[in-house]
Amino acid sequence: MTFYVTTPIYYVNSTPHIGHAYTTIAADVLARHHRQRGEETFFLTGTDEHGSKIAQVAEAQGLEPREFVDRMAGVWRELPVRVNATNDFFIRTTDPGHVAVVQDFVQRMYDRGELYEGVYSGLYCLGCEAFYTAGELDDGRCPQHGTVPEHFEEKNYFFRLSAYQERLLALYDRNPEFVLPRIRYNEARRFIEQGLEDISISRGSQRWGIPVPWDPDQVIYVWVDALINYVSALSYAADGADLRPRFWPHVRHLLAKDILKFHCVIWPALLLAAGYDVPRQLFVHGYLLLDERKISKSVGNVIDPLDLVSVYGVDPVRFFLLRVTPFGQDGSATIDGLHERYERELGNELGNLLSRTTAMVARYRGGRLPVAAWDSPLRPALDRLGPEVAGRLDRFDLSGALDEIWAVVRELNRHVEERAPWQLAKDAGRAEELDRTLHDLADGLRAVAVALAPYLPDTAPRVLAALGQPGDLAWAGVAYGGLLEATGIAPAAPLYPRVEPPAASG
Ligand code: MSP
Repeated sequence: MTFYVTTPIYYVNSTPHIGHAYTTIAADVLARHHRQRGEETFFLTGTDEHGSKIAQVAEAQGLEPREFVDRMAGVWRELPVRVNATNDFFIRTTDPGHVAVVQDFVQRMYDRGELYEGVYSGLYCLGCEAFYTAGELDDGRCPQHGTVPEHFEEKNYFFRLSAYQERLLALYDRNPEFVLPRIRYNEARRFIEQGLEDISISRGSQRWGIPVPWDPDQVIYVWVDALINYVSALSYAADGADLRPRFWPHVRHLLAKDILKFHCVIWPALLLAAGYDVPRQLFVHGYLLLDERKISKSVGNVIDPLDLVSVYGVDPVRFFLLRVTPFGQDGSATIDGLHERYERELGNELGNLLSRTTAMVARYRGGRLPVAAWDSPLRPALDRLGPEVAGRLDRFDLSGALDEIWAVVRELNRHVEERAPWQLAKDAGRAEELDRTLHDLADGLRAVAVALAPYLPDTAPRVLAALGQPGDLAWAGVAYGGLLEATGIAPAAPLYPRVEPPAASG
Protein backbone atom coordinates (compact mmCIF):
# COMPACT_ATOMS: atom_id res chain seq x y z
CA MET A 1 0.00 0.00 0.00
CA THR A 2 1.09 3.54 -0.73
CA PHE A 3 -0.12 6.81 0.73
CA TYR A 4 0.55 10.33 -0.49
CA VAL A 5 -0.94 13.26 1.44
CA THR A 6 -0.74 16.98 0.72
CA THR A 7 -1.66 20.25 2.40
CA PRO A 8 -2.48 23.35 0.39
CA ILE A 9 0.65 25.36 -0.27
CA TYR A 10 0.31 28.50 1.78
CA TYR A 11 0.57 32.05 0.49
CA VAL A 12 3.74 33.75 1.62
CA ASN A 13 2.19 37.20 1.78
CA SER A 14 0.90 36.40 5.25
CA THR A 15 2.46 34.58 8.17
CA PRO A 16 1.55 31.15 9.54
CA HIS A 17 -1.28 31.01 12.05
CA ILE A 18 -3.10 28.32 13.94
CA GLY A 19 -5.49 27.69 11.00
CA HIS A 20 -2.62 26.70 8.71
CA ALA A 21 -1.17 24.63 11.53
CA TYR A 22 -4.52 22.82 11.68
CA THR A 23 -4.27 21.41 8.15
CA THR A 24 -0.57 20.65 8.51
CA ILE A 25 -1.15 18.75 11.75
CA ALA A 26 -4.07 16.82 10.28
CA ALA A 27 -1.96 15.76 7.30
CA ASP A 28 0.84 14.79 9.64
CA VAL A 29 -1.43 12.58 11.75
CA LEU A 30 -2.43 10.74 8.58
CA ALA A 31 1.15 10.42 7.34
CA ARG A 32 2.41 9.12 10.67
CA HIS A 33 -0.47 6.68 10.91
CA HIS A 34 0.11 5.24 7.44
CA ARG A 35 3.80 4.82 8.20
CA GLN A 36 2.77 2.84 11.29
CA ARG A 37 0.86 0.57 8.98
CA GLY A 38 4.06 -0.06 7.08
CA GLU A 39 2.87 1.81 4.00
CA GLU A 40 5.14 3.73 1.68
CA THR A 41 4.19 7.27 2.61
CA PHE A 42 4.90 10.69 1.18
CA PHE A 43 3.78 13.91 2.86
CA LEU A 44 4.04 17.22 1.04
CA THR A 45 3.56 20.80 2.18
CA GLY A 46 5.06 24.10 1.07
CA THR A 47 4.52 27.64 -0.13
CA ASP A 48 2.66 29.40 -2.94
CA GLU A 49 4.92 32.26 -3.97
CA HIS A 50 3.78 33.77 -7.27
CA GLY A 51 0.96 36.11 -8.23
CA SER A 52 0.16 39.77 -8.14
CA LYS A 53 -0.87 39.84 -4.49
CA ILE A 54 2.57 38.72 -3.43
CA ALA A 55 4.27 41.09 -5.87
CA GLN A 56 2.26 43.94 -4.38
CA VAL A 57 3.10 43.11 -0.79
CA ALA A 58 6.78 42.84 -1.72
CA GLU A 59 6.65 46.23 -3.40
CA ALA A 60 4.93 47.78 -0.41
CA GLN A 61 7.88 46.61 1.67
CA GLY A 62 10.34 47.98 -0.84
CA LEU A 63 11.62 44.54 -1.80
CA GLU A 64 12.07 42.65 -5.03
CA PRO A 65 9.55 39.79 -5.13
CA ARG A 66 12.38 37.24 -5.09
CA GLU A 67 13.93 38.73 -1.99
CA PHE A 68 10.57 38.92 -0.27
CA VAL A 69 9.55 35.31 -1.00
CA ASP A 70 12.94 33.99 0.05
CA ARG A 71 12.53 35.66 3.40
CA MET A 72 8.97 34.49 3.86
CA ALA A 73 9.69 30.94 2.77
CA GLY A 74 12.11 30.77 5.69
CA VAL A 75 9.28 31.74 8.04
CA TRP A 76 6.91 29.18 6.52
CA ARG A 77 9.42 26.38 6.62
CA GLU A 78 9.28 26.75 10.39
CA LEU A 79 5.56 25.91 10.50
CA PRO A 80 5.91 22.14 10.08
CA VAL A 81 8.93 22.17 12.38
CA ARG A 82 7.02 23.98 15.13
CA VAL A 83 4.12 21.55 15.04
CA ASN A 84 6.38 18.51 14.71
CA ALA A 85 5.12 17.59 11.27
CA THR A 86 7.08 14.99 9.33
CA ASN A 87 6.74 16.31 5.79
CA ASP A 88 8.99 14.49 3.34
CA PHE A 89 9.47 17.61 1.25
CA PHE A 90 8.77 21.32 1.39
CA ILE A 91 7.89 22.70 -2.02
CA ARG A 92 8.28 26.32 -3.07
CA THR A 93 6.62 27.32 -6.32
CA THR A 94 9.76 29.31 -7.12
CA ASP A 95 11.84 26.08 -7.17
CA PRO A 96 13.31 25.54 -10.64
CA GLY A 97 12.04 21.95 -10.56
CA HIS A 98 8.48 23.18 -10.07
CA VAL A 99 8.80 25.84 -12.77
CA ALA A 100 9.92 23.22 -15.29
CA VAL A 101 6.99 20.90 -14.59
CA VAL A 102 4.46 23.75 -14.71
CA GLN A 103 5.75 24.82 -18.10
CA ASP A 104 5.66 21.26 -19.36
CA PHE A 105 2.13 20.82 -17.97
CA VAL A 106 0.67 23.87 -19.73
CA GLN A 107 2.61 23.11 -22.89
CA ARG A 108 0.95 19.70 -22.96
CA MET A 109 -2.45 21.33 -22.61
CA TYR A 110 -1.58 23.75 -25.39
CA ASP A 111 -0.35 20.97 -27.68
CA ARG A 112 -3.51 18.98 -27.06
CA GLY A 113 -5.67 21.90 -28.12
CA GLU A 114 -7.06 22.50 -24.64
CA LEU A 115 -6.08 26.18 -24.61
CA TYR A 116 -7.03 29.08 -26.85
CA GLU A 117 -6.23 32.76 -26.98
CA GLY A 118 -8.91 35.25 -26.03
CA VAL A 119 -9.53 38.59 -24.42
CA TYR A 120 -10.41 38.67 -20.82
CA SER A 121 -12.51 41.44 -19.51
CA GLY A 122 -13.93 41.24 -16.04
CA LEU A 123 -13.66 41.83 -12.34
CA TYR A 124 -10.65 40.51 -10.50
CA CYS A 125 -10.20 40.17 -6.73
CA LEU A 126 -6.55 40.33 -5.83
CA GLY A 127 -7.15 38.79 -2.40
CA CYS A 128 -8.62 35.65 -4.00
CA GLU A 129 -6.46 35.83 -7.13
CA ALA A 130 -9.69 35.05 -8.95
CA PHE A 131 -12.17 36.54 -11.40
CA TYR A 132 -15.72 37.20 -10.34
CA THR A 133 -18.92 37.70 -12.27
CA ALA A 134 -21.12 40.57 -11.12
CA GLY A 135 -23.66 38.07 -9.77
CA GLU A 136 -21.11 36.49 -7.47
CA LEU A 137 -20.40 39.76 -5.68
CA ASP A 138 -22.10 41.11 -2.56
CA ASP A 139 -23.10 44.69 -3.32
CA GLY A 140 -20.27 44.89 -5.80
CA ARG A 141 -17.76 43.57 -3.26
CA CYS A 142 -15.83 40.34 -3.03
CA PRO A 143 -17.76 37.93 -0.76
CA GLN A 144 -14.52 36.71 0.84
CA HIS A 145 -12.63 39.97 1.25
CA GLY A 146 -15.27 42.72 1.19
CA THR A 147 -13.13 44.67 -1.25
CA VAL A 148 -14.17 46.07 -4.62
CA PRO A 149 -12.63 43.93 -7.39
CA GLU A 150 -10.58 45.65 -10.09
CA HIS A 151 -11.66 45.82 -13.69
CA PHE A 152 -9.31 43.93 -15.97
CA GLU A 153 -9.06 43.64 -19.73
CA GLU A 154 -6.25 41.85 -21.49
CA LYS A 155 -5.21 39.06 -23.80
CA ASN A 156 -5.14 35.71 -21.99
CA TYR A 157 -4.96 32.04 -22.76
CA PHE A 158 -8.12 30.23 -21.82
CA PHE A 159 -8.67 26.64 -20.78
CA ARG A 160 -11.72 24.84 -22.15
CA LEU A 161 -13.08 23.98 -18.73
CA SER A 162 -16.60 24.05 -20.20
CA ALA A 163 -15.73 20.97 -22.24
CA TYR A 164 -15.13 18.99 -19.04
CA GLN A 165 -18.55 19.16 -17.47
CA GLU A 166 -19.66 15.69 -18.55
CA ARG A 167 -16.34 14.06 -17.74
CA LEU A 168 -16.31 15.60 -14.28
CA LEU A 169 -19.87 14.54 -13.57
CA ALA A 170 -19.02 11.01 -14.70
CA LEU A 171 -16.01 11.05 -12.42
CA TYR A 172 -18.15 12.12 -9.46
CA ASP A 173 -20.81 9.52 -10.26
CA ARG A 174 -18.31 6.73 -10.63
CA ASN A 175 -16.61 7.61 -7.40
CA PRO A 176 -19.02 8.73 -4.67
CA GLU A 177 -16.11 9.18 -2.28
CA PHE A 178 -13.99 11.27 -4.62
CA VAL A 179 -14.61 14.21 -2.32
CA LEU A 180 -15.30 13.78 1.38
CA PRO A 181 -17.25 14.64 3.45
CA ARG A 182 -20.50 14.17 1.57
CA ILE A 183 -21.67 17.78 1.88
CA ARG A 184 -18.51 18.91 0.10
CA TYR A 185 -18.98 16.27 -2.59
CA ASN A 186 -22.49 17.60 -3.13
CA GLU A 187 -21.28 21.18 -3.17
CA ALA A 188 -18.65 20.42 -5.79
CA ARG A 189 -21.01 18.32 -7.89
CA ARG A 190 -23.67 21.03 -7.82
CA PHE A 191 -21.11 23.50 -8.96
CA ILE A 192 -20.25 21.34 -11.96
CA GLU A 193 -23.92 20.69 -12.75
CA GLN A 194 -24.63 24.41 -12.92
CA GLY A 195 -22.36 24.62 -15.93
CA LEU A 196 -18.71 25.50 -16.25
CA GLU A 197 -17.21 28.45 -18.02
CA ASP A 198 -13.78 28.47 -19.62
CA ILE A 199 -11.15 30.00 -17.38
CA SER A 200 -8.26 32.26 -18.14
CA ILE A 201 -5.00 30.54 -17.24
CA SER A 202 -2.49 33.28 -18.00
CA ARG A 203 -1.91 36.93 -17.21
CA GLY A 204 -0.45 39.52 -19.53
CA SER A 205 -0.21 42.40 -17.11
CA GLN A 206 1.82 40.61 -14.47
CA ARG A 207 5.49 39.80 -14.30
CA TRP A 208 5.87 37.80 -11.08
CA GLY A 209 5.05 34.31 -12.25
CA ILE A 210 6.11 31.45 -14.50
CA PRO A 211 6.35 32.49 -18.16
CA VAL A 212 4.02 30.80 -20.63
CA PRO A 213 6.52 28.73 -22.66
CA TRP A 214 5.24 29.67 -26.14
CA ASP A 215 4.43 33.30 -25.22
CA PRO A 216 6.83 34.63 -22.58
CA ASP A 217 4.95 37.95 -22.39
CA GLN A 218 2.37 36.10 -20.36
CA VAL A 219 2.78 34.40 -16.99
CA ILE A 220 0.81 31.40 -15.87
CA TYR A 221 -2.15 32.14 -13.62
CA VAL A 222 -1.03 31.64 -10.03
CA TRP A 223 -3.73 29.08 -9.20
CA VAL A 224 -2.74 26.85 -12.12
CA ASP A 225 0.91 27.22 -11.13
CA ALA A 226 0.03 26.41 -7.50
CA LEU A 227 -2.15 23.35 -8.09
CA ILE A 228 0.54 21.72 -10.18
CA ASN A 229 2.80 21.63 -7.09
CA TYR A 230 1.18 18.38 -6.06
CA VAL A 231 2.58 16.73 -9.18
CA SER A 232 5.78 18.70 -9.66
CA ALA A 233 7.17 18.07 -6.17
CA LEU A 234 7.30 14.35 -6.86
CA SER A 235 9.50 14.95 -9.89
CA TYR A 236 12.40 16.51 -7.97
CA ALA A 237 11.89 15.83 -4.24
CA ALA A 238 14.18 12.82 -4.36
CA ASP A 239 17.61 13.19 -5.90
CA GLY A 240 17.77 11.41 -9.20
CA ALA A 241 14.38 9.71 -8.90
CA ASP A 242 11.00 10.67 -10.32
CA LEU A 243 8.49 9.72 -7.63
CA ARG A 244 5.48 10.48 -9.80
CA PRO A 245 4.76 6.91 -10.95
CA ARG A 246 5.05 5.64 -7.39
CA PHE A 247 3.01 8.21 -5.50
CA TRP A 248 0.75 10.18 -7.84
CA PRO A 249 -1.89 7.40 -8.17
CA HIS A 250 -2.31 7.45 -4.37
CA VAL A 251 -2.61 11.18 -3.71
CA ARG A 252 -5.02 12.50 -1.10
CA HIS A 253 -5.44 16.26 -0.91
CA LEU A 254 -6.37 17.92 2.36
CA LEU A 255 -7.76 21.45 2.21
CA ALA A 256 -10.37 23.67 3.79
CA LYS A 257 -13.65 24.67 2.21
CA ASP A 258 -12.34 28.09 1.06
CA ILE A 259 -10.53 26.53 -1.89
CA LEU A 260 -12.93 23.74 -2.76
CA LYS A 261 -13.73 24.91 -6.30
CA PHE A 262 -10.08 25.09 -7.34
CA HIS A 263 -9.32 21.64 -5.99
CA CYS A 264 -12.49 19.70 -6.64
CA VAL A 265 -13.50 21.14 -10.00
CA ILE A 266 -10.68 22.95 -11.81
CA TRP A 267 -7.79 20.71 -10.71
CA PRO A 268 -9.20 17.38 -11.94
CA ALA A 269 -10.07 19.03 -15.26
CA LEU A 270 -6.57 20.46 -15.65
CA LEU A 271 -5.10 17.05 -14.93
CA LEU A 272 -7.28 15.35 -17.51
CA ALA A 273 -6.41 18.04 -20.04
CA ALA A 274 -2.69 17.50 -19.52
CA GLY A 275 -3.03 13.72 -19.64
CA TYR A 276 -2.59 12.95 -15.94
CA ASP A 277 -4.79 10.86 -13.68
CA VAL A 278 -7.19 12.75 -11.44
CA PRO A 279 -6.43 12.75 -7.70
CA ARG A 280 -7.40 9.66 -5.79
CA GLN A 281 -9.38 11.57 -3.17
CA LEU A 282 -9.90 14.99 -1.62
CA PHE A 283 -10.91 15.78 1.91
CA VAL A 284 -12.32 19.23 2.60
CA HIS A 285 -12.29 20.21 6.23
CA GLY A 286 -14.00 23.11 7.95
CA TYR A 287 -12.76 26.31 9.44
CA LEU A 288 -11.46 26.32 12.95
CA LEU A 289 -11.54 29.60 14.77
CA LEU A 290 -9.49 29.92 17.89
CA ASP A 291 -9.93 32.83 20.28
CA GLU A 292 -9.26 35.88 18.22
CA ARG A 293 -7.93 37.74 21.22
CA LYS A 294 -4.23 38.05 21.67
CA ILE A 295 -2.92 36.25 24.68
CA SER A 296 0.10 37.01 26.75
CA LYS A 297 2.35 34.57 28.44
CA SER A 298 3.63 37.08 30.91
CA VAL A 299 3.05 40.79 31.14
CA GLY A 300 4.19 42.55 28.01
CA ASN A 301 4.84 39.33 26.14
CA VAL A 302 1.98 39.00 23.68
CA ILE A 303 1.81 35.74 21.78
CA ASP A 304 -0.41 34.46 18.99
CA PRO A 305 -2.34 31.20 19.19
CA LEU A 306 0.37 29.30 17.36
CA ASP A 307 2.65 30.19 20.24
CA LEU A 308 0.46 28.06 22.49
CA VAL A 309 2.97 25.44 21.47
CA SER A 310 5.57 27.15 23.63
CA VAL A 311 3.18 27.32 26.59
CA TYR A 312 1.70 23.81 26.49
CA GLY A 313 4.07 21.89 24.28
CA VAL A 314 3.39 20.66 20.78
CA ASP A 315 1.53 17.44 21.63
CA PRO A 316 -1.21 19.15 23.65
CA VAL A 317 -1.84 21.64 20.84
CA ARG A 318 -2.05 18.87 18.23
CA PHE A 319 -4.35 16.88 20.51
CA PHE A 320 -6.57 19.84 21.24
CA LEU A 321 -6.99 20.98 17.63
CA LEU A 322 -8.09 17.55 16.49
CA ARG A 323 -10.20 16.81 19.54
CA VAL A 324 -12.11 20.04 19.95
CA THR A 325 -14.36 19.78 16.91
CA PRO A 326 -15.44 16.98 14.54
CA PHE A 327 -12.91 16.97 11.71
CA GLY A 328 -14.68 18.20 8.61
CA GLN A 329 -17.02 20.59 10.35
CA ASP A 330 -16.45 24.21 11.31
CA GLY A 331 -15.63 24.80 14.90
CA SER A 332 -14.52 27.36 17.35
CA ALA A 333 -12.26 26.83 20.28
CA THR A 334 -10.98 28.81 23.20
CA ILE A 335 -7.72 28.88 25.03
CA ASP A 336 -9.58 28.19 28.27
CA GLY A 337 -10.89 25.03 26.63
CA LEU A 338 -7.37 24.02 25.71
CA HIS A 339 -6.22 24.59 29.26
CA GLU A 340 -9.09 22.57 30.66
CA ARG A 341 -8.43 19.61 28.38
CA TYR A 342 -4.74 19.80 29.09
CA GLU A 343 -5.37 19.32 32.78
CA ARG A 344 -8.32 16.96 32.72
CA GLU A 345 -7.66 14.73 29.73
CA LEU A 346 -3.93 14.78 29.19
CA GLY A 347 -2.79 15.50 32.74
CA ASN A 348 -5.31 13.42 34.58
CA GLU A 349 -6.78 10.74 32.39
CA LEU A 350 -3.57 9.86 30.57
CA GLY A 351 -0.68 11.28 32.63
CA ASN A 352 -1.96 10.20 36.03
CA LEU A 353 -2.89 6.79 34.76
CA LEU A 354 0.71 6.25 33.72
CA SER A 355 2.07 7.66 36.98
CA ARG A 356 -0.22 5.48 39.06
CA THR A 357 0.41 2.34 37.04
CA THR A 358 4.18 2.66 37.12
CA ALA A 359 4.14 3.62 40.81
CA MET A 360 2.12 0.50 41.65
CA VAL A 361 4.40 -1.74 39.59
CA ALA A 362 7.37 -0.25 41.44
CA ARG A 363 5.78 -0.56 44.81
CA TYR A 364 3.96 -3.88 44.66
CA ARG A 365 6.19 -5.79 42.24
CA GLY A 366 9.62 -4.28 42.81
CA GLY A 367 9.52 -2.66 39.37
CA ARG A 368 9.01 -5.95 37.51
CA LEU A 369 6.17 -5.82 34.99
CA PRO A 370 4.00 -8.89 35.33
CA VAL A 371 3.46 -10.47 31.94
CA ALA A 372 0.14 -12.14 32.45
CA ALA A 373 -2.13 -11.95 29.43
CA TRP A 374 -5.39 -13.69 30.25
CA ASP A 375 -8.99 -13.74 29.22
CA SER A 376 -9.30 -10.15 30.36
CA PRO A 377 -12.48 -8.11 30.05
CA LEU A 378 -10.27 -5.42 28.49
CA ARG A 379 -9.25 -7.68 25.64
CA PRO A 380 -12.22 -6.99 23.32
CA ALA A 381 -11.90 -3.20 23.60
CA LEU A 382 -8.19 -3.28 22.84
CA ASP A 383 -8.52 -5.77 20.00
CA ARG A 384 -11.24 -3.63 18.43
CA LEU A 385 -9.24 -0.44 18.74
CA GLY A 386 -6.69 -1.09 15.96
CA PRO A 387 -9.15 -1.81 13.15
CA GLU A 388 -11.62 0.79 14.40
CA VAL A 389 -9.11 3.64 14.47
CA ALA A 390 -7.56 2.63 11.16
CA GLY A 391 -11.01 2.48 9.57
CA ARG A 392 -11.86 5.94 10.81
CA LEU A 393 -8.58 7.39 9.65
CA ASP A 394 -9.18 5.84 6.23
CA ARG A 395 -12.30 8.01 6.16
CA PHE A 396 -10.33 11.04 7.43
CA ASP A 397 -12.31 10.97 10.67
CA LEU A 398 -9.39 12.22 12.71
CA SER A 399 -11.49 13.39 15.61
CA GLY A 400 -13.63 10.23 15.68
CA ALA A 401 -10.50 8.07 15.74
CA LEU A 402 -9.24 10.09 18.69
CA ASP A 403 -12.60 9.64 20.45
CA GLU A 404 -12.24 5.87 20.09
CA ILE A 405 -8.77 5.92 21.58
CA TRP A 406 -9.88 8.16 24.40
CA ALA A 407 -12.80 5.87 25.23
CA VAL A 408 -10.20 3.18 25.95
CA VAL A 409 -8.15 5.60 28.08
CA ARG A 410 -11.30 6.19 30.13
CA GLU A 411 -12.02 2.49 30.34
CA LEU A 412 -8.54 1.95 31.76
CA ASN A 413 -9.21 4.64 34.33
CA ARG A 414 -12.44 2.91 35.34
CA HIS A 415 -10.56 -0.35 35.48
CA VAL A 416 -8.11 0.96 38.09
CA GLU A 417 -10.93 2.19 40.26
CA GLU A 418 -12.89 -1.05 39.97
CA ARG A 419 -9.96 -3.38 40.56
CA ALA A 420 -8.43 -1.19 43.27
CA PRO A 421 -4.95 -2.72 43.07
CA TRP A 422 -4.11 -1.08 46.40
CA GLN A 423 -6.71 -3.35 48.00
CA LEU A 424 -5.51 -6.44 46.15
CA ALA A 425 -1.97 -5.71 47.34
CA LYS A 426 -3.06 -6.12 50.93
CA ASP A 427 -4.10 -9.71 50.38
CA ALA A 428 -1.34 -12.23 49.51
CA GLY A 429 -4.02 -14.66 48.30
CA ARG A 430 -4.94 -12.24 45.49
CA ALA A 431 -1.43 -11.95 44.01
CA GLU A 432 -2.48 -13.34 40.65
CA GLU A 433 -5.37 -10.91 40.45
CA LEU A 434 -2.97 -8.08 41.19
CA ASP A 435 -0.56 -9.31 38.51
CA ARG A 436 -3.34 -9.45 35.99
CA THR A 437 -4.59 -6.00 36.87
CA LEU A 438 -1.17 -4.40 36.67
CA HIS A 439 -0.50 -6.24 33.43
CA ASP A 440 -3.75 -5.02 31.90
CA LEU A 441 -3.14 -1.42 32.88
CA ALA A 442 0.39 -1.44 31.51
CA ASP A 443 -0.63 -3.31 28.39
CA GLY A 444 -3.58 -0.98 27.82
CA LEU A 445 -1.33 2.05 28.20
CA ARG A 446 1.15 0.50 25.78
CA ALA A 447 -1.50 -0.13 23.13
CA VAL A 448 -3.03 3.30 23.61
CA ALA A 449 0.39 4.95 23.32
CA VAL A 450 0.94 3.28 19.94
CA ALA A 451 -2.51 4.35 18.77
CA LEU A 452 -1.93 7.91 20.00
CA ALA A 453 1.54 8.22 18.48
CA PRO A 454 0.37 10.10 15.35
CA TYR A 455 -1.43 12.65 17.53
CA LEU A 456 1.08 12.77 20.40
CA PRO A 457 4.41 11.94 18.76
CA ASP A 458 6.53 13.16 21.69
CA THR A 459 4.39 11.55 24.37
CA ALA A 460 4.01 8.06 22.92
CA PRO A 461 7.70 7.09 23.20
CA ARG A 462 7.77 8.47 26.75
CA VAL A 463 4.87 6.23 27.76
CA LEU A 464 6.52 3.20 26.19
CA ALA A 465 9.85 3.99 27.83
CA ALA A 466 8.23 4.43 31.25
CA LEU A 467 6.78 0.94 30.82
CA GLY A 468 10.12 -0.49 29.77
CA GLN A 469 8.79 -1.24 26.30
CA PRO A 470 10.65 -0.89 22.98
CA GLY A 471 9.78 2.18 20.92
CA ASP A 472 8.14 0.12 18.17
CA LEU A 473 5.12 1.99 16.82
CA ALA A 474 3.95 -0.65 14.32
CA TRP A 475 0.17 -0.69 14.13
CA ALA A 476 -0.04 -4.39 15.06
CA GLY A 477 0.79 -3.21 18.58
CA VAL A 478 -2.67 -1.72 18.93
CA ALA A 479 -4.19 -4.89 20.37
CA TYR A 480 -4.38 -6.68 23.69
CA GLY A 481 -1.44 -8.62 25.06
CA GLY A 482 1.65 -7.22 23.36
CA LEU A 483 3.34 -6.24 26.62
CA LEU A 484 6.91 -7.48 26.96
CA GLU A 485 8.61 -8.42 30.18
CA ALA A 486 10.45 -5.54 31.81
CA THR A 487 12.14 -4.77 35.08
CA GLY A 488 13.28 -1.58 36.74
CA ILE A 489 9.95 0.20 36.27
CA ALA A 490 9.99 3.34 38.39
CA PRO A 491 7.22 5.84 39.10
CA ALA A 492 6.95 7.93 35.91
CA ALA A 493 7.37 11.69 36.05
CA PRO A 494 4.18 13.56 35.10
CA LEU A 495 3.66 13.53 31.34
CA TYR A 496 2.00 16.93 31.45
CA PRO A 497 3.18 19.09 34.32
CA ARG A 498 1.00 21.94 35.46
CA VAL A 499 1.34 25.14 33.47
CA GLU A 500 0.11 28.64 34.11
CA PRO A 501 -2.63 29.47 31.62
CA PRO A 502 -1.63 32.40 29.42
CA ALA A 503 -3.41 35.55 30.56
CA ALA A 504 -5.78 37.41 28.27
CA SER A 505 -4.43 40.77 27.30
CA GLY A 506 -7.46 42.30 25.67
N1 MSP B 1 -2.17 29.32 -1.79
C1 MSP B 1 -3.51 28.86 -1.72
C2 MSP B 1 -3.58 27.35 -1.82
C3 MSP B 1 -2.98 26.77 -3.04
S1 MSP B 1 -3.02 25.04 -3.00
C4 MSP B 1 -2.67 24.57 -4.53
C5 MSP B 1 -4.13 29.27 -0.39
N2 MSP B 1 -3.28 29.57 0.59
S2 MSP B 1 -3.70 30.02 2.07
O1 MSP B 1 -2.47 30.41 2.71
O2 MSP B 1 -4.75 30.96 2.04
O3 MSP B 1 -4.17 28.70 2.80
C6 MSP B 1 -5.52 28.29 2.80
C7 MSP B 1 -5.61 27.00 3.60
O4 MSP B 1 -5.09 27.20 4.92
C8 MSP B 1 -7.02 26.47 3.85
O5 MSP B 1 -7.54 25.76 2.76
C9 MSP B 1 -6.77 25.58 5.05
O6 MSP B 1 -6.12 24.40 4.66
C10 MSP B 1 -5.82 26.42 5.86
N3 MSP B 1 -6.51 27.31 6.76
C11 MSP B 1 -6.29 28.64 6.89
N4 MSP B 1 -7.03 29.10 7.93
C12 MSP B 1 -7.75 28.10 8.48
C13 MSP B 1 -8.67 28.00 9.54
N5 MSP B 1 -8.98 29.03 10.31
N6 MSP B 1 -9.23 26.78 9.78
C14 MSP B 1 -8.94 25.71 9.01
N7 MSP B 1 -8.08 25.78 8.00
C15 MSP B 1 -7.45 26.96 7.71
O7 MSP B 1 -5.34 29.27 -0.28
